[in-house]
Amino acid sequence: MTDMLTPVLSADWGNDRAWTLAAYEQTGGYEALRTALTMAPDDVIALVKESGLRGRGGAGFPTGMKWSFIPQDNPNPKYLVVNADESEPGTCKDIPLMMATPHTLIEGVIIAAHAIRAKTAFIYVRGEVLHVVRRLRAAAREAYEAGHLGTDIHGSGVDLDLVIHAGAGAYICGEETALLDSLEGRRGQPRLRPPFPAVAGLYASPTVVNNVESIASVPAIVKNGVDWFGSMGTEKSKGFTLYSLSGHVKRPGQYEAPLGITLRELLELGGGMRDGSELKFWTPGGSSTPILTAEHLDIPLDYEGVSAAGSMLGTKALQVFDQTTSVVRCVLRWTEFYKHESCGKCTPCREGTWWLAQTLQRLDEGHGKPGDIELLLDLCENILGRSFCALGDGATSPITSAIQHFRDEFEAGMHTPSREMFPPVASTLFPDRFSSADGSSSADGSSSADGSLSLSKGPA
Ligand SMILES: Cc1cc2nc3c(=O)[nH]c(=O)nc-3n(C[C@H](O)[C@H](O)[C@H](O)COP(=O)(O)O)c2cc1C
Ligand code: SF4
Repeated sequence: MTDMLTPVLSADWGNDRAWTLAAYEQTGGYEALRTALTMAPDDVIALVKESGLRGRGGAGFPTGMKWSFIPQDNPNPKYLVVNADESEPGTCKDIPLMMATPHTLIEGVIIAAHAIRAKTAFIYVRGEVLHVVRRLRAAAREAYEAGHLGTDIHGSGVDLDLVIHAGAGAYICGEETALLDSLEGRRGQPRLRPPFPAVAGLYASPTVVNNVESIASVPAIVKNGVDWFGSMGTEKSKGFTLYSLSGHVKRPGQYEAPLGITLRELLELGGGMRDGSELKFWTPGGSSTPILTAEHLDIPLDYEGVSAAGSMLGTKALQVFDQTTSVVRCVLRWTEFYKHESCGKCTPCREGTWWLAQTLQRLDEGHGKPGDIELLLDLCENILGRSFCALGDGATSPITSAIQHFRDEFEAGMHTPSREMFPPVASTLFPDRFSSADGSSSADGSSSADGSLSLSKGPA
């Protein structure tokens, strides 16, 4: 087995009560904070800049550079906002990190806030994960009691208050400006830029918005140095990162590895594809990134490598699908998600995702009309680059890339339902939860005479 794992953020996830302050401090937790508090804020920014850390929320923007954009001559308060909305389909890294070792994030928050001279920081958590909200609040309480948060932290003169805010469960609130509107108590919809959050963000004040993993990576960089960080990863995409591996693989989960590892290597680490499976297609960074195929097993999973292959590294959510999966059905599911999550602010996305879903539905049912593929491509062309935010662009990625790689399956949608070509029971990860319409189990991939399948009530 390839020994390519570089556990840093996930190193202590398996420790006994790893989420407590005592467990965190036992493995050197909050040592980086003490070092950072002896440094001038600008030196902390310079260190993070030099490390080459790039934002782990999707776009890969250099973190230190983002911090340096905060205009310190602006008289308004400065804010740090952590984006913990994690909702991109397939992405599952921030939530496990916050559950397992919330103090890694809190320590990162205090260091980052010190760097940008913020006296208030917020962690905006996805609404559905109440257990994470509770865990973070408990950890923040412990940090206050230990003097890591509050006024005059460890006698340094630095003050910081931390607010853990629960969202209400909207994918668009992960978009940083919609997040800020939501945090201010408004309906979460993206804002026009400029001004960018660094100049006029939360309450029209200078604000840094960073992903959970970006901020949680900072203590390790402060503690171990930029050379150590740069010894992992590639020239332009430095360091370690959390890949979420899911789908038709033997051992799905979070794999922490250097940027630039390949899917082939990650699959090896994950025990390979499930028995009898062959890789058909995969997403490198969630459903908003163009799908790739088995041809791309050896591309480096860093920002440059994935972009050269025509996709994006995004959130590093590797959703792996085998030969039993209908591309049309899969893309339809994702499109239904975007249609549901479209905030409705702009016409191309609000109307376009509705038309996309309707057209894909026809093809999925085998009732596609001649010209439907061209219609899908035309709709995508009119959404991409014409929408107000990247949700609209993301909604087109799986469709255009799926047509590029699997056009024949869309053509088959003119006459044959996808469930006949690809019985859902064959691709499900939980075949025992499927039963055919007559109640008999059909875990072997067969379907009832009318091709219908229904979900049973699930395990008791
Ligand atoms: C529709 C949409 C959803 C997003 N969801 C998230 C999210 O859940 N978490 C996240 O960190 N970034 C998300 N982003 C990206 C953020 O807008 C922003 O780029 C990111 O939080 C910046 O942090 P980073 O520089 O540390 O990567 C989303 C963007 C879009 C367009
Ligand atoms: S692209 Fe979609 S989510 Fe973004 S502003 Fe327009 S309607 Fe809202």
